[in-house]
Amino acid sequence: MRTIDWVDGAIELVDQTLLPDELVMLRITTVDALIEAIQRLAVRGAPALGVAGAFGVALADGDRKAIARLREARPTAVNLAWGVDQAAAHVEEGRQAVLARAERLRDEDIAACVAMGGRGADLIEGDRLRVMTICNTGALAAVERGTALGVIQTLHERGRLAEVLALETRPLLQGARLTAWELDRMGAPYRLIADSAGPSLLARGGIDAVLIGADRIAANGDTANKVGSYSLALGAERAGVPFFVVAPETTIDPSTPSGEHIEIEDRAEEEIVSVRGVRLAPEGTRALNPAFDVTPHDLITAIVTDRRVFRP
Ligand code: MRU
Repeated sequence: MRTIDWVDGAIELVDQTLLPDELVMLRITTVDALIEAIQRLAVRGAPALGVAGAFGVALADGDRKAIARLREARPTAVNLAWGVDQAAAHVEEGRQAVLARAERLRDEDIAACVAMGGRGADLIEGDRLRVMTICNTGALAAVERGTALGVIQTLHERGRLAEVLALETRPLLQGARLTAWELDRMGAPYRLIADSAGPSLLARGGIDAVLIGADRIAANGDTANKVGSYSLALGAERAGVPFFVVAPETTIDPSTPSGEHIEIEDRAEEEIVSVRGVRLAPEGTRALNPAFDVTPHDLITAIVTDRRVFRP
């Protein structure tokens, strides 16, 4: 099953807001519906957003304003704007040319995930590995297999995985809802942990590596990813645990010199004061909800892409 694809003249994608309870495919036929799906995280994860952006241009039928709105639906993952730009470069040649580029981009993403999985698994030393990860970086965040979770899947397939500790990933629980669902389906051993337990569990010992994905990697290697990644990086540094970022080359943004230039998406206060529609905090409580943080490059042991490994 692909997380996102072009089927009979429309985008079909897994509605990730309903997982793990229901696996429902959405059929999207307009740019407005796609923007809405992106903003409510029905489709999410940097590589999947790149593919969604490219297919979205085919839905726009040359409407430049719609293409511009789609490009800005979420600001942090550079893949969305990149995917839109790749397909939009063919608008003058007509819809078939746009679609051909989008389908090629989808296929390139699938191949990139396979390449990252192998390269990452080769890089990490040891057998019976215990690894920690945050958010969801699996097949649901791409078209197939994913990035950091793709490496974990490859380790599992090679018989080298002892256990995954997956952060639940407040506020929208991509770890608890999506990563746990994917690990379960692949038959990999895992336990879920509270986000705030990450650094102290690293300090306690027995964890071989932290693996995360990325939404945007600046030219100097500073990496924006799901909020909570920075605390894991600090904890890993202190505990001497290697900290790997796994992302396709398309997540590298050479036009952003360093992390402070990356726009961090601020999401609705409602997501903090409530969990899946149930309010936790007293009525009227204000909240601050940055969806991502930036890990400085010096805390990153290596960045693994589909083409190479970067070290500081
Ligand atoms: O807000 P989300 O769920 O789109 O955030 C996703 C992440 O932070 C992922 O780690 C990142 O996009 C890499 S996905 C392979």
